[in-house]
Amino acid sequence: MNQQKFIIPFRGRITRKDRERLKGHKSFILWFTGLSGSGKSTLSHRVEELLYQQGIHTYILDGDNIRTGLNKDLGFSEEDRRENIRRIGEVAKLFVDAGVVVLSAFISPYKRDREFVRSLVPEGDFIEIYVKCPLEVCEQRDPKGLYKKARQGIIRNFTGIDDPYEEPENPEIVVETDKMSIDECAKKILDYLKERKLLEVD
Ligand code: ADX
Repeated sequence: MNQQKFIIPFRGRITRKDRERLKGHKSFILWFTGLSGSGKSTLSHRVEELLYQQGIHTYILDGDNIRTGLNKDLGFSEEDRRENIRRIGEVAKLFVDAGVVVLSAFISPYKRDREFVRSLVPEGDFIEIYVKCPLEVCEQRDPKGLYKKARQGIIRNFTGIDDPYEEPENPEIVVETDKMSIDECAKKILDYLKERKLLEVD
C-alpha cells in the first residue's frame, strides 16, 4: 500500500520569511552548471567568500560533500546523474526553506534534471549560472587528469568526451571562464543579486 498519503505535513509557525528576516537577506539557489574543469568549484567558492564578507549565510553543495556522503552510492550513468541531481535539488530546497543561500556546483549535464530542480522552488529562487568554457580549454586545464584518462578509455561516459552536456538555453547568468577572470565572473553574479535585491529583505 502507498503510505505516502498518510504523511500529513505539520505547519510550523516559523516560516521561511521569518528565517530570512532573521538573517537579513533572501534565500535562493545559485546553480552552477558546466563541464568538468570549467571553473564551477573555483567560482562558487569565490562567490561564497564575497557573500560571507557581506554577512550573507551561505552553504556550498559540491562533489566534495555530496558525492562522498549522501550520494556515494551513485555513479555516472544517465540514471545515476539524474538521481544525483534530484537529491541535491531536494537538499537545496531544504536549505532555501532554512533561509540559507545555497551554491551548488555540479556538471548537471541534462536540461530536464536542472528544470526539475527549478520546479522545486518558487519562481525566481533558482538562479541558473552557466559556467561556459570550450571543451578544448577544459581539456587543456585538466586539473584532475580525468580528460586524459577519458581519452585513453580508462574512464567511460565522461561528460564532453563520450557523454553529453546539454547547454542551458535560458540561464539567468552566463560567465565565460576562458574570457573573464574569476573575479570578473564573481562580480557579474553579485551585480545580478544586487539588482534583484536578493541580498536584503523587504
Ligand atoms: S553530474 O553529471 O552528476 O552532475 P558531478 O558534478 O556530480 O556530475 O561530478 C562530476 C565530477 O566527477 C567531475 O568533475 C569529475 O571530477 C568526476 N567524474 C568521474 N567520472 C566522471 C564522468 N564519467 N563524467 C564526468 N565527471 C566524472
